[in-house]
Amino acid sequence: MTAVNARALPRPVLSTVLIAQPRRPLPQIVGIDVTDKECTEFLQWGLPRLRLAWPGFRRVRKQVCKRVARRIDELELSGLAAYRTRLGQSPGEWKVLDGLCRITISRFYRDRGVFDAISTQVLPSIVRCAVERGDEEIRCWSVGCGSGEEAYTVQIMWKLSLGTSFSPGARGPQPFPPVARCKLPLRVTASDVDGHMLERASRGCYPKSSVKDLPVLWLESAFSRYGDQYVLGETFRENVTFIKQDIRHALAEGSFHIILCRNLVFTYFDEELQMEILNKILCRLLPDGILAVGIHESLPQGASGLSPFGSGPAIYKKDVLQ
Ligand SMILES: C[S@@+](CC[C@H](N)C(=O)[O-])C[C@H]1O[C@@H](n2cnc3c(N)ncnc32)[C@H](O)[C@@H]1O
Repeated sequence: MTAVNARALPRPVLSTVLIAQPRRPLPQIVGIDVTDKECTEFLQWGLPRLRLAWPGFRRVRKQVCKRVARRIDELELSGLAAYRTRLGQSPGEWKVLDGLCRITISRFYRDRGVFDAISTQVLPSIVRCAVERGDEEIRCWSVGCGSGEEAYTVQIMWKLSLGTSFSPGARGPQPFPPVARCKLPLRVTASDVDGHMLERASRGCYPKSSVKDLPVLWLESAFSRYGDQYVLGETFRENVTFIKQDIRHALAEGSFHIILCRNLVFTYFDEELQMEILNKILCRLLPDGILAVGIHESLPQGASGLSPFGSGPAIYKKDVLQ
């Protein structure tokens, strides 16, 4: 496990802006001919063997199919049938395929309703419990943090809500008394299996599409604009630590007041693996701690130890054992 403190990293290199490649139909990307139907059949065969769930991939399959096609080309194989044979012969190739199946879409303030609830209901509740317990800090873990959008959103929210909070419809922050009285620091641990994503996270430099959902005043307060890039200010990188970690095999150290596990485990992993990971994550959550999942996600059948928090979706509170 490698840990990187976002503040300790060099300032973003603004010249390394990647040029997006034009979209093309799958068969023309590389030399091999893979149809959507063939690739769907392949994924429906392969994903369960990786403990991944086809329904989660249905909508994003083209992204994965492109990568698989590229891989087949790299290996100079004739097509998916030959690739299946290769998987049978080389167990190590499954690891490669697993890597090709990572979906990395994210953005700041993703699922606005959930972040609104975190800002106006979750944080005050967490602060209240933490103060009662005599905690010296608030700890948050972002699981599958992508390029840091989610982790930084919480830190921006915390810093700019210290005395203020965003209310929907308002152009900017509004008074938020419970947190205003609280002087606790918020420490965010953000983990992802993908080193490239973490590298981008540590640069803290984003295109407009990544920040478009942020309340305008937060965007203006937290970022500097250089051309078409938005660079996150140093204050908001403080107390954010990125670690390279596979949630299937390792957990962040310590206990947390809030865990964000969104758009990864409960979308792409199979039910059994979801339950295994949920139970491990719960062990890292303090009593009264909050688990937020993706807005379109639900907990696996039979999940226990959590109750819905508030009236909105996607947020759960850990039950306190009597
Ligand atoms: C769809 S993004 C979600 C990002 C963010 N949580 C959000 O909701 O916007 C999923 C992220 O999980 C990461 N990921 C995929 N498999 C993982 C694993 N086994 N362990 C940790 N992270 C993983 C991917 O690299 C990617 O950055």
